[in-house]
Amino acid sequence: MMKKEGNGGALPRHVGIIMDGNGRWARSKGLARTNGHTEGLKTARRIVEAASRRGIGYLTLFVFSTENWKRAAQEVDFIMSLVKQHLTREFDFYRENHIRIRHTGDKDGLAPDILAEIEQAKSDTRNFEGMQVILALNYGGRNAIVRAARRFLAGGGGVGPGLDEDAITRNMDNPDVPDPDLIIRTAGEFRTSNFLLWEAAYSEYFITDKFWPDFLAEDFDAALAAYAARERRFGAITT
Ligand code: IPE
Ligand code: IPE
Ligand code: MG
Repeated sequence: MMKKEGNGGALPRHVGIIMDGNGRWARSKGLARTNGHTEGLKTARRIVEAASRRGIGYLTLFVFSTENWKRAAQEVDFIMSLVKQHLTREFDFYRENHIRIRHTGDKDGLAPDILAEIEQAKSDTRNFEGMQVILALNYGGRNAIVRAARRFLAGGGGVGPGLDEDAITRNMDNPDVPDPDLIIRTAGEFRTSNFLLWEAAYSEYFITDKFWPDFLAEDFDAALAAYAARERRFGAITT
C-alpha cells in the first residue's frame, strides 16, 4: 500500500484554541477556580509566544463564550479583570513579538472599560506585522453568524440569491482572517462549545486531555505534528 503523505508537513496558517480546563486544574490542586484562570493566562502568553516563533499567521483564543455568563458573577468578574489587566500591561510583549491584537465576539454585553481596552490594544498593535492574535471574547458561533446576517441586511442586502455563503463570510467580524486550519481543545471534551461554527467547517481538530494550565509549547508542537500528518480532503476523493 502506498504510504499516506498526510498534509505535506504543512504548517497551519490559522490555529484556534478552546482553552478549557482551568477550573478542573485548580480543583485537582485544591485551589479556587480563579487560580486556574490566573494560571491559564500564563499558558496563553506561553502559547502565543510559541505559535509566533513557529510562524503561525493567526491564532484565535477562546477566552469567554456567550454562554459563560451563566457562571457565578464572581468568576465572570475575575476573568474580565484578568483580560483587562493583560491588555493594559502587555504592550511590550506584543511589540517584542510583533503581535497584532484583534477581537471577535459580540461587543454588546461587554463592559465599556473592557471594550475600551480592546480598542486600545487593537489600535496600539495595528501596524505589527507578525502573528495576529484574535481574542474571542463574548464570542458565540451562532451569535457571530446572526450578526453577520444582520450586517448584510443592514448594508442593503435583501433576502434572495445575494444572501449566499460568501455574503455571510464577508460580513463576519474579521472577514480578512482565513478559516482556521487547526482547532486545539484542551481538557478532553469532544465538542465545539459554539466556537467558530461557520469558519471551522473543514478545520482539523486536535483534542488533548491536558488541562489548559498544563499545556506546554511541546504540546502545541504535538498538535502541529498531528495536523501535518492529516489528509485534508474537503469532501473530494484522493487516491
Ligand atoms: C476554561 O476553563 C476557561 C473559560 C471557559 C473561561 P474552565 O473555567 O471552563 O475550566 P473547567 O472546564 O471548569 O475545568
Ligand atoms: C469553552 O469552554 C469556552 C472557553 C474555553 C472560553 P466551556 O468550559 O465554557 O465549555 P463547556 O461548558 O464545557 O461546553
Ligand atoms: Mg470548561
